[in-house]
Amino acid sequence: MVMSTNYMDYRLMKEVVAAGLKCGFRAFDTARDYGNEDIVGRVLSECMRELHIPREEIFITTKIGNSQQILGNIDRQIEISLKNLRTEYVDLWLMHWPYPDYYIETYHKMEKVYHSGKAHAIGMANYRLRHFERLFDAGIEIMPHGVQYECHPMRTADEILSFCKNNNIAVQAYSPICRMIPEIRNADCLKSLSDKYHKTIAQVILRWHFQRGTVPVFKSTKPERLRENIGIFDFNLTDDEIREVSSLNQDYKYHLESASCPGY
Ligand SMILES: NC(=O)c1ccc[n+]([C@@H]2O[C@H](COP(=O)([O-])OP(=O)(O)OC[C@H]3O[C@@H](n4cnc5c(N)ncnc54)[C@H](OP(=O)(O)O)[C@@H]3O)[C@@H](O)[C@H]2O)c1
Repeated sequence: MVMSTNYMDYRLMKEVVAAGLKCGFRAFDTARDYGNEDIVGRVLSECMRELHIPREEIFITTKIGNSQQILGNIDRQIEISLKNLRTEYVDLWLMHWPYPDYYIETYHKMEKVYHSGKAHAIGMANYRLRHFERLFDAGIEIMPHGVQYECHPMRTADEILSFCKNNNIAVQAYSPICRMIPEIRNADCLKSLSDKYHKTIAQVILRWHFQRGTVPVFKSTKPERLRENIGIFDFNLTDDEIREVSSLNQDYKYHLESASCPGY
């Protein structure tokens, strides 16, 4: 499970990340476009030192934004991220969007960065199947290792999930609890599973992700919720229950597409 750090200032992030590490989280999500990659670096290095956690136990995902794709100096962009994050490598480096006219060339440059060892894995966020098809048609050397897209019970994105499973690509599901919007909070099937297992609705959904094989990338600014969100490893949904939760799907996307990525 991955904790988000986006749009948090130093004080809040330190509190949330330290609490997360203490209850067992080890993976963190950021992006150049979130504007606080350097704070993530400061917070993680301080927390690792204070809690005696070695770098190898931490998994950092960051992303390269559209404006950096336009600049084209992708090898320089990883250096900036590494400096911000105070690390010699990132665990997963994602292209944030399939920016039209740039994303194929960007991916080829990211492959070179992968070979340099500065990114231990590469991939992309917000790709539709057609972007994978175009990229694969153009020829790739390194199969993407990880993909991040919006995924929750109201957007199960089955086609992309099967594609990733078939190609052995790990999936990170962003907005995994769909911000707990009323349609989620009030869904009968989630309420009854919550009652049955004595778990919260958020825990039922996070467990649904775990059993489907998608890694939730959630955000919380409340340390007290972190223990709740990691408390999903002591119950099991049946196959029918997984299907029932998936039946909430209506291809609903909470996050609109990037304004600079029209028609993505
Ligand atoms: N790659 C991309 O293009 C992309 C796009 C969007 C998002 N993301 C990533 O995904 C992360 C998460 O997405 P998101 O923030 O949209 O959605 P989310 O994680 O589904 O929802 C976050 C909201 O849920 C609340 N929450 C967390 N745990 C809860 C719980 N146990 N019970 C009730 N409410 C809970 C949080 O409130 P509190 O703060 O009050 O706990 C927050 O308002 C982002 O922060 C970002 O890192 C990536």
